[in-house]
Amino acid sequence: MDKKKVVLTGEDAVRQSHDKTPKVALTGEDASRQSPAKTMKIVLTGDRPSGNLHIGHYVGSLATRLQLQGDPNYEIYILIADLQALTDNAHQPAKVKNAVMELMLDYLAVGLDPQRVHFVLQSAVPALTELPMYYMNLVSQARLERNPTVKNEIKSKGFHKDVPVGFVNYPISQAADITAFGASVVPVGADQAPMLEQTREIVHTFNQLYGETLVMPTALLPTKACCRLVGVDGNGKMSKSLGNCIYLKDDATTVAQKVWQMYTDPNHVKITDPGQVEGNVVFMYLDAFYSDQKHLAELKDQYRRGGLGDVALKKLLTATLNNLLAPMRERRAYYEQHRDEVLGYLRAGTQHAINITNQTVQRVRNAIGIFQL
Ligand code: TRP
Repeated sequence: MDKKKVVLTGEDAVRQSHDKTPKVALTGEDASRQSPAKTMKIVLTGDRPSGNLHIGHYVGSLATRLQLQGDPNYEIYILIADLQALTDNAHQPAKVKNAVMELMLDYLAVGLDPQRVHFVLQSAVPALTELPMYYMNLVSQARLERNPTVKNEIKSKGFHKDVPVGFVNYPISQAADITAFGASVVPVGADQAPMLEQTREIVHTFNQLYGETLVMPTALLPTKACCRLVGVDGNGKMSKSLGNCIYLKDDATTVAQKVWQMYTDPNHVKITDPGQVEGNVVFMYLDAFYSDQKHLAELKDQYRRGGLGDVALKKLLTATLNNLLAPMRERRAYYEQHRDEVLGYLRAGTQHAINITNQTVQRVRNAIGIFQL
């Protein structure tokens, strides 16, 4: 009860001072969005623009976002974290730049509704670069280096002593992303849980030191085990760098080809052979995407007994995936032809974000009590 009250106080303060912000001019107009009712929960999540979204993203996070946007109790911000993407792509900024529009196209294609979601470009929001300067002083170097997500990424990217400071620092930048909007709900994949822990620590420290100012966020993690989709090769996670993805924008033939190459059970040679369901990539995908769970249970039984061939199974998976992706391809085709409209959504969302987050910066400056002109 008490905790809830604190959250509301934080949000109220943001809202109340909203009208006093000087508007920073961006070319796009701020869509005629109403200020949210005070009971609305603020949701913030984001992605690094570094490549197209795939069906692993769909089960891991996009499906949750689609659900949240159907609930009028949430005000949703989705951040295109281009500054964060630069922390390990400093030498290829064009890759990050080009991925911004692609990410917007993927978002709209998947069915995120620009009337319900504020799309925000991180680098265009000044608050997101100012807040980390204050938060950095509240976090020790040792604590940053202990962050398991960062530790893993440093290892997998082959960084050693040469790891960029900006990269090690990105959890602090992410804490700024989350707190700038006063987000209380942060839907993320399991790998991002340590980021939320770090953000919560920063919020706690800040509020202890300078008074109750920042909203304490909570991670919204996927509950289903299937939400960590393996790659089409069955090797670990679906990821762009491993080249084992089915992209949301893949056409029907490409999807069929990728499913066709999937690993099943090497001992299941003839249709009549008993087959193994566990570790069988085709079944893992059906678990994640096939909605008729009862039928799926029957198929598994039949496969285990023998009598169900891989071809029939792969055809079912191909049809299931193409069913899911067909409307996305259609929406993408529309938006690819209407890029100005897409840009308009990003501008409007970003403008709104600038106004909201400037309020937080002002409150943070007041709370710390720095000299102000
Ligand atoms: N770190 C996230 C990722 O790699 C992207 C991200 C940036 C993010 N800022 C965020 C996620 C704020 C949630 C909240 O996917």
